[in-house]
Amino acid sequence: MSSSRPVLFLFMRIVTSIPQMQRLAKRWQREGVSVGFVPTMGYLHRGHISLVERARKIAGSKGKVVVSIYVNPAQFGPNEDFSKYPRDLERDKKLCRTAKVDLLFVPSNDEMYPTSPEQPFSTFVVEETLSKTMEGESRPTHFRGVTTVVAKLLNIVGPNVAVFGAKDFQQATIIRRMVRDLNIPVRVVVAPTKREPDGLALSSRNKYLSPDERREANILWKSVQMARQMTHLSPNGTSAAKMETRVRRLIEAQPASRVDYVAFFDPESIHPVRVVKRGTQMALAVFIGRTRLIDNAAL
Ligand code: PAF
Repeated sequence: MSSSRPVLFLFMRIVTSIPQMQRLAKRWQREGVSVGFVPTMGYLHRGHISLVERARKIAGSKGKVVVSIYVNPAQFGPNEDFSKYPRDLERDKKLCRTAKVDLLFVPSNDEMYPTSPEQPFSTFVVEETLSKTMEGESRPTHFRGVTTVVAKLLNIVGPNVAVFGAKDFQQATIIRRMVRDLNIPVRVVVAPTKREPDGLALSSRNKYLSPDERREANILWKSVQMARQMTHLSPNGTSAAKMETRVRRLIEAQPASRVDYVAFFDPESIHPVRVVKRGTQMALAVFIGRTRLIDNAAL
């Protein structure tokens, strides 16, 4: 029996070679095609798709949307989850086709970080101020890996606009600074965090949670809500130390939760504040069992 459903032909180019990607990027540049770019580490979810939609909106129907999938070894510490980071390229390809991505860039480790003994990879991009606290303190080599790979990807893809998620607030701030400091000709756009109905921020790492841990994981969002409430009830501000103690107490009353950090800071400079007021940014990292989750919000 023949189906009456229309067949959708969603063509998406998949490029794995850096020179090929650069040739295409140059051609688009010559032709004046606007390119929106979403760098990812794959295992895509609704949050990534919202970044793709934002890139499409900015690039326009005549523009191109490029997504990269690359689990970047340089941003994982030696005892972190690089080898077990979730990967499912076939599923990601389907999601990208459905989201009408024009090109999926999936480079290999050998191309991104050549290892030949005569000419090994030896150049890194390091942001020296904003990357010292929070994620940078807990994961000392993390941002060096992020800025290096993002600089490389921007050089390879040559987009007009690159879209990042607000869940990684510090990452987005550091990338903006890098783009400004190194005069990289790209506009950086930061799109809002997508959440589960109970407030848990979408993250590829949520996959690691057991059902009990998943139930507990909305403690990050609950603690943001509590901090928001405290802020709104104290128009003159609340001491950051007091707020931190309250948040830690709330989180550590959960059986599987352990706070890595809770921070209150100015959203522009990332400087810690002593007094938390409306507009102060809060960020936190919490281990739920063995899974480390992060979140942040303006209070
Ligand atoms: O946010 C991420 O997924 C990664 O840090 C990024 C920006 C793709 C760099 O590897």
